[in-house]
Amino acid sequence: MKCYPQLWLSFIFALWAFHCCFATEIFDFEELKNETRPFQLQVMRLVCLDLPYEETVLTLCRAFLRRNQPTLLRVTLEVPGLYNYVLLQFRLHYKFRTYQPFLIDGEIDICTFVKESKLDPVPSYIYSVMQEVAPDLSAPCPLGNKTFNVTTMFKVEYAPKSVPAGDYRMDIRVASRANVTLINFQVYVAVRRKGVLGSMLDW
Ligand SMILES: *[C@@H]1O[C@H](CO)[C@@H](O)[C@H](O)[C@H]1NC(C)=O
Ligand SMILES: *[C@@H]1O[C@H](CO)[C@@H](O)[C@H](O)[C@H]1NC(C)=O
Ligand SMILES: *[C@@H]1O[C@H](CO)[C@@H](O)[C@H](O)[C@H]1NC(C)=O
Ligand SMILES: *[C@@H]1O[C@H](CO)[C@@H](O)[C@H](O)[C@H]1NC(C)=O
Repeated sequence: MKCYPQLWLSFIFALWAFHCCFATEIFDFEELKNETRPFQLQVMRLVCLDLPYEETVLTLCRAFLRRNQPTLLRVTLEVPGLYNYVLLQFRLHYKFRTYQPFLIDGEIDICTFVKESKLDPVPSYIYSVMQEVAPDLSAPCPLGNKTFNVTTMFKVEYAPKSVPAGDYRMDIRVASRANVTLINFQVYVAVRRKGVLGSMLDW
């Protein structure tokens, strides 16, 4: 079996970075948004999976890369049903050689989730990001009986303050109480140290 010392070093560094800086700092999302970051972040790709869905109709799922601006994400999802329970599952991956689950992993029912419950900072953080990125989903439940037409972006301000450089993939699945997938997608994100490259579109 081969040994990959750099891989392990970066893994250990990432764990350290998480415990030192990340876990404690995602508590206050409002404060987090004001900090400048020593890195650049760009959404590279948006991929919707498992189509077609049983109870919803996805008509658009695309990322639009723009020079020197955050990538625009567009999703149009028709949701004819009404839901009093909407499960949001999230799992972050970091690309070592392949994408490996990485630190952020969980699920919340967005209908009953109370952001102020700071017992577990990670779901609160994910919920805060969701409110910024897709405010439509933060409306009181029941959710549905409408077409969600979301045009949005993930700004660097939403990211934790210190993040190891590299390639990330966030998997998000939204499901009903009966575990029917309403939407399932992956967001590919590149994080680079500032100044390493002028524009991420030139990779
Ligand atoms: C963030 O910045 C804004 C505008 O610069 C300021 O009004 C606000 O008080 C700041 N919030 C925090 C939590 O520092
Ligand atoms: C769904 O929305 C339509 C129009 O927005 C409304 O007339 C109708 O009552 C809603 N149906 C339910 C079950 O809420
Ligand atoms: C969704 O929004 C975009 C831009 O806001 C608009 O051009 C488009 O027609 C909308 N699509 C639907 C299905 O409402
Ligand atoms: C829910 O559905 C997903 C995707 O179809 C499946 O992977 C998962 O095992 C299901 N969970 C439960 C608790 O049935």
